[in-house]
Amino acid sequence: MHPSSHIEALNPPARLLMGPGPINADPRVLRAMSAQLIGQYDPAMTGFMNETMARYRQIFQTRNQWTFLIDGTSRAGIEAVLISALRPGDKVLVPIMGRFGHLLAEIAQRAQAEVHTIEVAWGEVFEPGQIEAAIKKVQPKLLAMVQGDTSTTMNQPLEHIGEICKRHDVLFYCDATASIMGNTLKTDEWGLDAVSVGLQKCLGGPSGSAPVTLSDQFVDWVRKRKKVEAGIRTAAHQDGIEPMIRSNYFDLPMIMDYWGEERLNHHTEATSMLYCAAECARIAINEGIDETIARHKLHGDAMLTGVQALGLEVFGDISNKMNNVVGVYIPDSVDGDKVRGQMLTDFGIEIGTSFGPLHGKIWRIGTMGYNARKSAVLQTLACLDTCLQANGYKGPKGEAGGAALSFYQSQQA
Ligand SMILES: Cc1ncc(COP(=O)(O)O)c(C=O)c1O
Repeated sequence: MHPSSHIEALNPPARLLMGPGPINADPRVLRAMSAQLIGQYDPAMTGFMNETMARYRQIFQTRNQWTFLIDGTSRAGIEAVLISALRPGDKVLVPIMGRFGHLLAEIAQRAQAEVHTIEVAWGEVFEPGQIEAAIKKVQPKLLAMVQGDTSTTMNQPLEHIGEICKRHDVLFYCDATASIMGNTLKTDEWGLDAVSVGLQKCLGGPSGSAPVTLSDQFVDWVRKRKKVEAGIRTAAHQDGIEPMIRSNYFDLPMIMDYWGEERLNHHTEATSMLYCAAECARIAINEGIDETIARHKLHGDAMLTGVQALGLEVFGDISNKMNNVVGVYIPDSVDGDKVRGQMLTDFGIEIGTSFGPLHGKIWRIGTMGYNARKSAVLQTLACLDTCLQANGYKGPKGEAGGAALSFYQSQQA
């Protein structure tokens, strides 16, 4: 081959990812992903699958048997839950407090459900009374809401909502992609029927696998829509009594037949992502569920202290802020894109911009997963401080790192 046709090996630039996710994967997760493949029915593989289910029961704080992985990014988990639960015409209530609430509503719409929404301004969360009033009015089959919406940095309190859903016979689904392991989520205690997440935030992995957990009640419902494909179907298989799920790939009962004892073939499990998801969970369990969440709070609070010392105004209702991300208003005196651009090109540090009504108004700075650590917080603050000053910022200079360090010292007692 002619030397000019030589193709360089992939060599991404070194970056510290301090936006709202994805973040740098934990090196242990990267190592797990590079392990050799095995066959779909190898007992070692089915053993890993069972072990992964057990680990995610701990992550979700649940005893749900049906706790497993959907192959695809977090929105694959959302889509699998919604398309499997909602028949065309079923009513769903979606409280929207940011971009990802809109996403749930849009996916439910594509499932041809009758979608009802209520909204609060970006930067706020819902009171349980608002949700109950809407449930009484709409009488939905399912309530679908986001716990931590990275678009606004808000963490919706969920602990009283499951009880409301039970009283009104409504299934309760939550997208906890951005909040899981950075903020408390108690699936069983809070009465959640379905939760889906992703790996690329506080679990310290890449995107590409969506762990889900489903209550028995939720499973009983979706199994009424069960269908077994021709070609693998036997005389013993019976279809459910309700109309079939309108996606093959995201048909939860079919995926469960592969993850369950029958091991009925569906798609080829994404083995490397299974290794990866299992390792993310192992790391969190070894650190401790409460300890991992406390680490996110510690470093999130240190970042908050630092940006406030820089004189930046924090976005939204801080009492409901997610531990793992903070939004700050971009000061009028600087060009936000230039500051972010310089942080990336000169320092290799990425922070996030924003969507929708917040576009161009706030930056979002994350402290999550592998990057919820002191050195990452202090490097980011020092870099932001320098880049703000280099771009004409008139606020406090040289205060952020010291303020964060003092905060860390105050927490050591
Ligand atoms: C709350 C929430 N839901 C869903 C998603 C979509 O995830 P993915 O891009 O992995 O499909 C994200 C991504 O940031 C998110 O923060």
